[in-house]
Amino acid sequence: MDIHTNIPLKNYTTMKLGGPARFMAEVRTPDEVATTYRNARAQGLSVFVLGGGSNVIAKDEGYNGLVMRIRIPGFTVIADDLNSTTIALGAGEDWDAVVKRTVDMELSGIEAMSAIPGTAGGTPIQNVGAYGQEIADTLQSVEAYDTSTDSFVTLTRQECGFSYRDSVFRGEWAGRYILTSLTLKLSKTPPQPPFYDALQQYLDQHSIKLYTQLIIRDAVIAIRANKLPDPTVLPNTGSFFKNTIVETWKLNDLKSHYPTIPAYDMGDGNFKIPTGWFIEQAGMKGKLLHGMRVHDKNCLVLINESATSYKDLVEAREEIIGTVRDTFGIQIEQEPLEIS
Ligand code: EPU
Repeated sequence: MDIHTNIPLKNYTTMKLGGPARFMAEVRTPDEVATTYRNARAQGLSVFVLGGGSNVIAKDEGYNGLVMRIRIPGFTVIADDLNSTTIALGAGEDWDAVVKRTVDMELSGIEAMSAIPGTAGGTPIQNVGAYGQEIADTLQSVEAYDTSTDSFVTLTRQECGFSYRDSVFRGEWAGRYILTSLTLKLSKTPPQPPFYDALQQYLDQHSIKLYTQLIIRDAVIAIRANKLPDPTVLPNTGSFFKNTIVETWKLNDLKSHYPTIPAYDMGDGNFKIPTGWFIEQAGMKGKLLHGMRVHDKNCLVLINESATSYKDLVEAREEIIGTVRDTFGIQIEQEPLEIS
């Protein structure tokens, strides 16, 4: 295993910002995870775990510890019956390559999560979701190195504590577990409506009435290509903000001022309001703030157009958060994690 020193994090994060990591290790097996972690701690170094760098923000001061890049491969069918196939994935697998393989196998469950940048091991952390599917729907369990007991554990879906863009891995157990693999149970039944609104609209516009995994994947790829900037061309981390969850009374209050506000009933007394809508209504669509561009096709996305530092990003972020707070009395939240 290679350990490199003084590695610019901007080369390993899709936002293309951030100073150097003091050390960076690439790990390819669960054992390497454990050994690298133990050695780092023995030398008093903190450890930050990085997948594809597509949902993390690095700071100007970089990281004064060891960044562990997870490169663990693996795609193995571990169970198969009439209705479903269960697959174990190495945490380092490229997520979209995994989606493509499962679609080629005519399996359903993650086809709407096509073209999401990053690694498989990153998906449970913030319960990645798109176009009506989220990883919590198909994930059975994860295997992880438990840094607090120096042992490997299996955690069930229930133990992962999933909710909207959240899990125990960024909540109460942040930093405790290093995911090495995950198990997904996928269905052999072709995708079934009802589909996510934007997806159904695309299918209708293209007169598509036959729904296969590949058709849904291709539709999602086309929708995303049109709405979301490609991070390899325009540096970004996908949604920079989470959508906003409000209680009924707050939605009613907002509706009295903004009758057309979009809101999705979460079925638990809460409603999800697209944060992109708040940012757009507050007049920030397409704006360039401190080198960061509010994407004109979805205001939830910030593109690093000419920002040169994390400080620029923070100034842009605070301006957006402050404007939404002053306009709507809503506190919006950043989605990507920060390397610290
Ligand atoms: N909207 C606006 N203005 C905007 C953006 C959205 O008015 O600038 C409103 C519109 O009413 C639109 C609705 O929001 O109909 C929903 O927009 P969209 O379908 O584009 O989805 P989103 O809520 O903005 C979420 C995810 C995306 C995911 C899409 C599709 C989060 C934080 N983001 O975005 O995930 O691709 O749904 O499922 O939940 C990501 O996390 O990186 C990401 C791209």
